[in-house]
Amino acid sequence: MKAVVFESKEKGATYNEDFKSPEIPDDFVEISLKAAALNKRDDFILKGLYPGLRPNVVLGSDGCGVYEGQPVVFDPGINWGESLEYQSPDYHILGMPQHGTFCEKVSVPKTNIFAKPKHLDFIQASALPLAGLTAYRALFTRGRLKPGQKVLISGGGGGVALFCIQFAIASGARVYSTTGSEDKKSRLLKMGLEGVVNYNGNSWDMDFSREFGPVDLVIDSAGGDGLHRLVNLLNPGGTLVTYGGTLGKSDNISPQVIFWKQLNIKGSTMGSPQDFKNMIRFVEQHQIVPVVDRVFPLSDFNKAVARLRSKDHFGKIVLTIS
Ligand SMILES: NC(=O)c1ccc[n+]([C@@H]2O[C@H](COP(=O)([O-])OP(=O)(O)OC[C@H]3O[C@@H](n4cnc5c(N)ncnc54)[C@H](OP(=O)(O)O)[C@@H]3O)[C@@H](O)[C@H]2O)c1
Repeated sequence: MKAVVFESKEKGATYNEDFKSPEIPDDFVEISLKAAALNKRDDFILKGLYPGLRPNVVLGSDGCGVYEGQPVVFDPGINWGESLEYQSPDYHILGMPQHGTFCEKVSVPKTNIFAKPKHLDFIQASALPLAGLTAYRALFTRGRLKPGQKVLISGGGGGVALFCIQFAIASGARVYSTTGSEDKKSRLLKMGLEGVVNYNGNSWDMDFSREFGPVDLVIDSAGGDGLHRLVNLLNPGGTLVTYGGTLGKSDNISPQVIFWKQLNIKGSTMGSPQDFKNMIRFVEQHQIVPVVDRVFPLSDFNKAVARLRSKDHFGKIVLTIS
């Protein structure tokens, strides 16, 4: 079958027209894929920044296709485990170490499969699973966002962040964001946010505070030295949920701010099967349509990765398969 296969950190991944279809594990079923979406995770794997890398593995976590004649989406997480609070040590995600979705057929546990939301086409639906699940858990399960609360979602142009924004607006929250370009800022404002500031500036947090005041919840995936600014923008009793560390470690957060304002700092990763089910229901109920930036054929995988790395993208990058 046609597949994008990881070789090594040095060689990256190659498009192979004749990759031998992997065996279907016990209790798994095979889905014929129509489209698959990229995530930052795929880029981190290509750069060797992901644990447990193995050669000859089909990349890709997100996809949409056909199972027993029906259009389906599926949870890319395997073996979440019993607890709703955190994943088991056996938890892993399609596309490393298990074969993923940048190919014609993928195997998943039957229980991971859901009907494709009817209001989405295959391309839109393929963009939903990983980023939608991460956003849903970060906002609602971990962040406990309530209607009317003020939420600041940093880096609003990203795949997960845009789902956070769409979900938060649909839930009745007052939504704010930061972003890295004026073009993205105007696109975000058209989506119904109450305020957006450009994070490329020494005093963006002061500007934000002056214009919009403190917020009840922050959702962040950048981390790095700017994280303390987000912590400082929280109301007393507020919550910061982090689901990523794109800019690395954060050494300059003041414990005084955390304890005096009685803040909650929480981590969030992917989501439980219950989160996935709730996310799909929420997307159907609110007719959420994923923001798709560009679409490439599977054979143009390298162009799709270049687009992801350009930082110019706004939303998800999708590969069409058949
Ligand atoms: N824990 C999990 O389960 C999980 C799941 C998915 C993703 N993640 C992590 O979340 C991060 C984003 O993933 P993605 O797939 O959404 O990536 P993506 O679509 O490539 O988006 C990149 C994001 O980084 C933001 N960004 C870049 N520089 C920034 C800065 N200086 N300050 C604030 N934001 C900045 C971008 O904001 P603008 O475009 O607005 O500039 C954009 O939101 C990655 O670190 C990824 O590994 C974690």
